[in-house]
Amino acid sequence: MAQLWGGRFTKETDALVYRFNQSIGFDRRFFEQDVRGSMAHVRMLAKQEILTEEEKEQILAGLSDILRDVADGSCVITEEYEDIHSFVEAELTRRIGEAGKKLHTGRSRNDQVALDMRLYLRDEIDETAELLQSLLVTVERIMEENKRTYLPGFTHLQKAQPVTLAHHMGAYFEMFRRDQMRLFSIRERMNECPLGSGALAGTTYPLDRAYTASLLGFDAPCANSMDGVSDRDYVIETLDAMAIMMMHLSRLSEEIIIWNSHEYRFIELDDTYSTGSSIMPQKKNPDIAELIRGKTGRVYGALMSMLTMMKALPLAYDKDMQEDKELTFDALDTVKGCLHLMEGMLRTSRWNTERMEKSALGGFANATDAADYLVRKGVPFRDAHSVIGRLVLTCIRKNCSLDELPLADWKAECPAFEKDIYDAISLPSCVNRRLTTGAPGAMEEEIFRSRRYLRQAEEKLAEIQHEKEQAGASVF
Ligand code: ARG
Repeated sequence: MAQLWGGRFTKETDALVYRFNQSIGFDRRFFEQDVRGSMAHVRMLAKQEILTEEEKEQILAGLSDILRDVADGSCVITEEYEDIHSFVEAELTRRIGEAGKKLHTGRSRNDQVALDMRLYLRDEIDETAELLQSLLVTVERIMEENKRTYLPGFTHLQKAQPVTLAHHMGAYFEMFRRDQMRLFSIRERMNECPLGSGALAGTTYPLDRAYTASLLGFDAPCANSMDGVSDRDYVIETLDAMAIMMMHLSRLSEEIIIWNSHEYRFIELDDTYSTGSSIMPQKKNPDIAELIRGKTGRVYGALMSMLTMMKALPLAYDKDMQEDKELTFDALDTVKGCLHLMEGMLRTSRWNTERMEKSALGGFANATDAADYLVRKGVPFRDAHSVIGRLVLTCIRKNCSLDELPLADWKAECPAFEKDIYDAISLPSCVNRRLTTGAPGAMEEEIFRSRRYLRQAEEKLAEIQHEKEQAGASVF
């Protein structure tokens, strides 16, 4: 048992207590962030003449060596330590002696862990935003390629009005765009540095908190030291954004599952993204889409756990907050995996455009357009609605679609119908007449805006990357 705080104690910790309290099994995940934070802290301490230049150089060299040795496997993070912070400090002191013991000057594990979690989450948010970008690019490509691929739009899972695949996928583009923007805005809000908050009340050393913050790529230090060590709202916001993302992914998954069914066959998943059955030789199952749909519950669970764990915690630090890690890590892994797989599944799928078009022609998806035809001839919409309703009944009786109904039947219901009704209810007319902003006839404009968004997001991602590299260069 290696503990940082043995001085006050006269007995060894009970073995079960030690294991229950220990976090190294999971906080080792942010080993790299922990070392990065320590390097920035030490640079600041030396700048403020709290440590000598020599001590600083010794500590930085020691920390670099540990980073390298852990990366190449020659130094192993073992469960013999309470947490990752204890491991780094003990390993440093073992390597460089006295100077290592000065690393923790003006710092507490409370502000240290708050920093590590922020640094880690910020990196994860950036990675997730990149994955969303790839997904958006793929969705946008499907939109471009399917401006004239007709399919029924559904409400209540009943055929409603004809749309295009570009339009349908455009809806997902918007959802994933907002998911990405949500991440950008969370990142901005959380980009304040808790280091220097100490245990809760700052320190008596003349720390330059703004300097540490800038070394680590933060916009500023957290304004209040108690808040700095206490709050985890950025974790909750991130999980909230992840939960919403999973909700979007699960809706798309559900549609893929339905569309991939034998009854629909709108889409065919690639062999590389499907699985078979151990007993039924004919099966090709959409397991990946089902798993994405299924894993959504897990991410919702993480959000609810975090909200519940944080509820009513008195200020400032409480050990309950150690529970923020495992479920957050699991949620992040889950979401990143799902984004990755959804992108690949969409990119490799084959769209069965003929089946979609055939389906759009059946089921009276163009009934509203037939009513609109009469409105253009001066018939009030309510009357037109009931005329078409009766014509739909005729079609059901004759087992045909509106397109196949002879003109005589149309005229029998209302003399205003002419030969051009067939053109008015054709799929291209139904779509092309819907020109209001955001409608399937206005896809050129929507695709133009989507492309512009993608370019802006690409720039934003590059800028974030650049800032991080600069900050990295000033610390390592
Ligand atoms: N493992 C702890 C956590 O995750 C680190 C902070 C410990 N601080 C303390 N006062 N015991 O929250």
